[in-house]
Amino acid sequence: MAKFIVGTSKGLKGNVTISGSKNAILPILAATLLTEEDCTVKSVPVLSDVIALCSMLKDMGVDIVFDKEQESIAVRAKNISKTEADYEKAGKLRGSFLIMGPLLARYKEANIPLPGGCPIGSRPVDLHLKGFSALGAKTQQAHGSIHITARQLKGDKIYLDFPSVGATENIMMAATLAKGVTTIVNAAAEPEIIDLATFLKKMGADISGEGTDTITITGVKKLHGAKHTVMPDRIEAGTFMIAAAITKGDIIIEQVIERDLKPILAKLSEANVKTEKIEEKTLRVYTAGKLQPISLKTMPFPGFPTDMQAPFMSLLSIIKGTSVITETVFENRFLHAGELQRMGAKINIESRSAIIEGVEKLTGTQVKATDLRAGAGLILSALAAEGKTEISDIYHIERGYYNIEKKLKNLGADICRVE
Ligand code: UD1
Repeated sequence: MAKFIVGTSKGLKGNVTISGSKNAILPILAATLLTEEDCTVKSVPVLSDVIALCSMLKDMGVDIVFDKEQESIAVRAKNISKTEADYEKAGKLRGSFLIMGPLLARYKEANIPLPGGCPIGSRPVDLHLKGFSALGAKTQQAHGSIHITARQLKGDKIYLDFPSVGATENIMMAATLAKGVTTIVNAAAEPEIIDLATFLKKMGADISGEGTDTITITGVKKLHGAKHTVMPDRIEAGTFMIAAAITKGDIIIEQVIERDLKPILAKLSEANVKTEKIEEKTLRVYTAGKLQPISLKTMPFPGFPTDMQAPFMSLLSIIKGTSVITETVFENRFLHAGELQRMGAKINIESRSAIIEGVEKLTGTQVKATDLRAGAGLILSALAAEGKTEISDIYHIERGYYNIEKKLKNLGADICRVE
């Protein structure tokens, strides 16, 4: 199994270009099932999650050409051969559940394996299913899968108990072809929801309110093909910002949308990490002066993103003083703390909070990526640590970071991937 070997890397310097967003491309790919016409998506990150979803769609008879050099995907879901997803493939990524809404809307039927638990929590899909039921669908669970059917989807008012990103996306896609008006109240407002709504509107959908807590979708008879460029990955951008801070470097980050990064920029500023807008989509991140300990709490957007929690923990673990991180989105997202402790970090977990006492230095050792963002956090800690760090289970990291090793190397990091 592949590993990253990372050595101390002080003062990363240079430019890095952020790739298309993983969390935006997955629902957009699912949405291509809503039309029989050609769709083209550009700025697609070449990630194992994207490849896995393409493979699932191919199995269903969808024509897909993924040009990895050009980072573009051409999709045509003219006639699909089945509305059932393969257990093995669907189990590889939770994003696979996002094909349920589009299949239900266009074919009135879908059979998708339950995504199951994952290291960061149980991750149920009850909110997705409640939304589909409100639109008139019937669901049945058997043999680990959800079989969903509907005669005709009809718009309704849907209150989400929690602003779930996936449930908002799935319901929004199902509602595009439903009869009448659907309102999602307490909807997720993440930038990726806006990107999906933008793509759906290019396909002819009637949607308003995306990016707020109330989204209204008026069903249309048919959707058509569309072309779209995926938004930049705000979590990848945040990860490189921490890379600048933790190595006391000076990095120019290109292809970023400042509005999407506000919650991250606010916390970096509190910690005394400097950021400066160079151009419309370019930010400079550097340090000058002493970094400060901070408190942060993960929340749905526009709150601080849970996906940046692990990278921030890495940074805070070497800032003198006491920092506190409270995780409110997922129930079990502190597994990386144990790995950081092995590198010398002082972290106490008390229920949903991590209390971090900054240490003078971390030391390299063998650690394991327990999930995607935890793995990214370990790379960041390894850059700052004394000696070599060997990170195993890096397949988690490669699910969500395109060319991370190459991008870090270009900035002067000592990192290599070994089989
Ligand atoms: C998406 C992102 C993930 C990010 C998360 C929160 C993708 C592919 N993944 O995941 O990177 O960490 O948003 O920003 O976009 N919940 C329920 N019932 C449901 C659905 C969710 O209880 O039916 C709970 C979850 O267990 C979790 C919380 O809601 O505690 C947030 O989950 P959700 O927003 O749905 O995350 P995902 O869409 O899975």
